[in-house]
Amino acid sequence: IGQNVIAYDEVVSTQPLAHEAAAKGAVEGTLVLAELQTGGKGRLGRPWHSPKGTGIWMSLIIRPAIPLPKTPQMTLLTAVAVAKTIREETGLPVKIKWPNDIFIGDKKVCGILTELNAESDRVNYLVIGIGLNANSVETDFPAELAQIATSLRIESGEPLKRVSFIQRLCRIFEEEYDHYLQAGFERVKQEWEDHSYTIGKWVTLQTISQQLEGRAVGLDEEGVLKVEDQAGQIHKVYSADVNYRAN
Ligand code: BTN
Repeated sequence: IGQNVIAYDEVVSTQPLAHEAAAKGAVEGTLVLAELQTGGKGRLGRPWHSPKGTGIWMSLIIRPAIPLPKTPQMTLLTAVAVAKTIREETGLPVKIKWPNDIFIGDKKVCGILTELNAESDRVNYLVIGIGLNANSVETDFPAELAQIATSLRIESGEPLKRVSFIQRLCRIFEEEYDHYLQAGFERVKQEWEDHSYTIGKWVTLQTISQQLEGRAVGLDEEGVLKVEDQAGQIHKVYSADVNYRAN
C-alpha cells in the first residue's frame, strides 16, 4: 500500500482520477493525493469541503479477490485503519460512526467514500476515498460545518505531520488488509466494534425503503449493522443515514 503515489496540486476530485488510473492498470495500493479538491465528493452525493493544504485528500486503489457482497467490509476495515492511525499519531480518543465516519467527541474528523468497479459478481477494483481534516482551524470551516466538523489540529492543539500520518496509515492498512485476506473479517469486526460510536446507541435509520428505530447491537459476520427494535426484533441494515437520539 502506498508504493505507488500519484500526487496533484489541484484536482476536481481524486476519486475519478483513481478510477482512471485503476482502469489503466495501476497496481494495487496506488494512492492518488491532492492538496486541493475543487469538487470533493462525499457520500450520498454530498459535496466534501477540501480546501488547500489543510487536509489529507486521498483515494486508494485496491484489488481484493473477494465476492461482491463482502465489499462493504473493506470500508469498515478502512475506518478501523484510520481510527488506529489517528490514535497512534495523536493519542486522541477516536470513534467510528457506522458505517464509516470517524468522530472525535461529537464532531466528524474524517469521512470515507468507497466506490466499486465490478463485472457481474467479480470485483475489478475498489477506490477508497479518505478525507481527513488534518490541520484546519475553526475559521477554515464554513458556517454549516462549524458545529459538526473538527480537525486533528483543533482537537490535539498541534499541527499534524501529514506525510508521517499517511505513511503510518499505509502500514496499518496493509497489515489489516493482509490479515483480512488470509484470516477473514473477524478481527476487523472486533476492532470496529471496539471503536464504535454506534453500538449500544438508540438510532433512527432512514434507509431508501423504510424508517427504523431501535438500538444498534453490533455487526454480523458480513459487516452489516444489526438494530434491535422495541419489539426485540433484529433488523439488518446495509446502508442508511443514521441519526442518534438520547436513550
Ligand atoms: C463522506 O463522509 O461523505 C465521505 C467523504 C470522502 C472524501 C474523500 S476526500 C478524497 C476523496 N476524493 C473525493 O472527492 N472524496 C474522497
